Amino acid sequence: MEDTVLLLVTLVLGTIYVSHDVGVLANKVNFEDIKFVMERRPLKIRCIGVSEKDATVEIMRSGPLPSDFKIESAQEKISDGKFRITVTATKESADLADGDTYLCDLKVNSTRLDATHLYLEIIQMYTRGANVTEGHETSLSCEPQAPMQPLITWFKDGVSLDVAPNVQGRVQYTRDNMTVTLADAKPSDGGLYSCRMDFTLYHPGQVFWENVTLQAKPYIQKWDADESLISVTNDSIVLKCPAGGYPPPQVFWLRGDDVLESSPNVTMSPFNGLTTGQLNITKATEAEFGQYSCTAENTLGKAAMPFDVSNPNKIGNGVHPTRKSPAAAMLEMFFCFSFLAMGSWLTT
Ligand SMILES: *[C@@H]1O[C@H](CO)[C@@H](O)[C@H](O)[C@H]1NC(C)=O
Ligand SMILES: *[C@@H]1O[C@H](CO)[C@@H](O)[C@H](O)[C@H]1NC(C)=O
Ligand SMILES: *[C@@H]1O[C@H](CO)[C@@H](O)[C@H](O)[C@H]1NC(C)=O
Ligand SMILES: *[C@@H]1O[C@H](CO)[C@@H](O)[C@H](O)[C@H]1NC(C)=O
Ligand SMILES: *[C@@H]1O[C@H](CO)[C@@H](O)[C@H](O)[C@H]1NC(C)=O
Ligand SMILES: *[C@@H]1O[C@H](CO)[C@@H](O)[C@H](O)[C@H]1NC(C)=O
Ligand SMILES: *[C@@H]1O[C@H](CO)[C@@H](O)[C@H](O)[C@H]1NC(C)=O
Repeated sequence: MEDTVLLLVTLVLGTIYVSHDVGVLANKVNFEDIKFVMERRPLKIRCIGVSEKDATVEIMRSGPLPSDFKIESAQEKISDGKFRITVTATKESADLADGDTYLCDLKVNSTRLDATHLYLEIIQMYTRGANVTEGHETSLSCEPQAPMQPLITWFKDGVSLDVAPNVQGRVQYTRDNMTVTLADAKPSDGGLYSCRMDFTLYHPGQVFWENVTLQAKPYIQKWDADESLISVTNDSIVLKCPAGGYPPPQVFWLRGDDVLESSPNVTMSPFNGLTTGQLNITKATEAEFGQYSCTAENTLGKAAMPFDVSNPNKIGNGVHPTRKSPAAAMLEMFFCFSFLAMGSWLTT
């Protein structure tokens, strides 16, 4: 009979482990295929054996496993008197001492029928985040301490830095990609960066991710999307605050100098990734029109944007954002001068 070895790919704790299912082989044990484990991350070692009834599978390392490992065992009948025995040893947080040789032992009536070894490397991680200093270089780093150097690639908010918008031409990698430097940093560079460490050259399926944060004070984005930031109907006012920053800022809304609280007629909802980024006022009365502003605040600072909200029902009123168009400003200046002229004419 031909021996068959089935390759199963399972997603365990965010890492793809390739497990050699021992399939129809009898009296055989195999570890699930891992070699690298991150320090302080969960550690899971699994050994699968196939044998007759009465067999035991045990995971050991220079003696029995320390008591901080949780051991689970499951047995499942597969065919003509054969059983698959799966033993799993897990630990919440791997430490350096877990870098060791592990043994998986298959015994029947105290007789060893098969055994296999696994050497685990514990990888220590050092990361360095930063704060954006506008106009300066900003570096982030991700340093795995492993006997082999993985391929490292960087992501910003889940998008590869090779294609992420607004950073193109300003990214430089050094030290085998362990450090990434952004030239001429901007507040919009702030975000959750992550480095992807790919060890698959040395061991299949072993890829790790680590987060590195680049903090930035809040800022108001240039908003040229079609979506309007102010929409006013008869009796409702909806305002959107196009703020950014990292950590994501908290947005407050003000009418004049008064901070608005949520109420049945005043609701705040998410916009542009910020939980209170949108203000929605229903049943608005005359008193509710006027000067509004949003303030975005995080640990590094704040930014504000004013909104001029006028009542569309009032004759002669339109809705205009605070920044006046040149034409409107000119018109205003013209009226102003005519008044001055009239005034001086009246007094003379
Ligand atoms: C193990 O021992 C039991 C009882 O002594 C016996 O029936 C069985 O055949 C043995 N199994 C093997 C694989 O030797
Ligand atoms: C970033 O700024 C915050 C707040 O000022 C400070 O606590 C933190 O240490 C800074 N981080 C770095 C990496 O400079
Ligand atoms: C470094 O990053 C670049 C860009 O993502 C990638 O193409 C390259 O393979 C990486 N090199 C190493 C040694 O990790
Ligand atoms: C990285 O950050 C994301 C988003 O906050 C989180 O879901 C993920 O668990 C983090 N990864 C690690 C390795 O800490
Ligand atoms: C808007 O207000 C006017 C005057 O108060 C009213 O006649 C009209 O029905 C209102 N329209 C809507 C859509 O509420
Ligand atoms: C504003 O709130 C009202 C009442 O809760 C709701 O009907 C309306 O859809 C909201 N408008 C927006 C743009 O969220
Ligand atoms: C909400 O609107 C209704 C109807 O205009 C009004 O009677 C009520 O006082 C408003 N509530 C608040 C808290 O402003």
